[in-house]
Amino acid sequence: VVMKDVFQTRTMEEELKTRLGIKDVHIVPGDSDEYAWVQKEMGRTCVTLIKQRMAAENNVIAVTGGTSIAAVAEMLVPDSGLKETLFVPARGGLGEQVENQANTICATMARKAMGSYRLLHVPDQLSKEAYESLISEPSVQDILRLIQSATMVIHGIGEAEAMAIRRNSSSRVLGELKDKKAVAEAFGYYFNQSGEIIHKVLTIGLQLEDLEEIPCIIAVAGGASKAEAIEAYMKRRPNQTLVTDEGAARAILAKN
Ligand code: G3H
Repeated sequence: VVMKDVFQTRTMEEELKTRLGIKDVHIVPGDSDEYAWVQKEMGRTCVTLIKQRMAAENNVIAVTGGTSIAAVAEMLVPDSGLKETLFVPARGGLGEQVENQANTICATMARKAMGSYRLLHVPDQLSKEAYESLISEPSVQDILRLIQSATMVIHGIGEAEAMAIRRNSSSRVLGELKDKKAVAEAFGYYFNQSGEIIHKVLTIGLQLEDLEEIPCIIAVAGGASKAEAIEAYMKRRPNQTLVTDEGAARAILAKN
């Protein structure tokens, strides 16, 4: 029975790779919409991948916020390969609660892996003026350079409306997302079904185009409810790894 399950999962991974047009997919059993342990299993799988994909030295890992990446942090354990690693948040404040913030998760990862970290202290909901002035600060530029030099990025993918509500976005933004049919969110960017950017939270850190320069990018997102979001976001990222669950995988493959 177990062998059969493994075989079925491998088959589903191949199907999902083709369907999404990406190079690497890892599926854990279950549906994280239903059971919290499924998200932890995705976290565990991601930790294995992080260790496999680390370079011999000078690793800089940029992480986003969210419960999925928090689950990755939870699963990290000290490892000789991770000890020299520097963890940084991918982007500044997006309006998340503390436990879901990239800064918090980044610090937790460094503590658990016995690595080091740098934080990005940028408030949420920056005005254009505040953004311009912060980004010219030498200390902000220092950390920004580090973030852009990341060798690996670990990020979540959210359902657009759920994320906008969770981040207390204004009714104007909520309306805009609805009008423009946003389905996915990642790095504070919102995307429609075709993977086009329709809205972006103004904050300092990795911009989508910076991802082109980063050798290893791993997304962690599961649950049948994220099927559309995962599919939409992956239209932008042919060259990346996805850690997901059976719930999301089945829902994506069932769509026509
Ligand atoms: O950017 C995506 C969201 O952070 C995903 O959050 O992992 O809690 O669903 P989540």
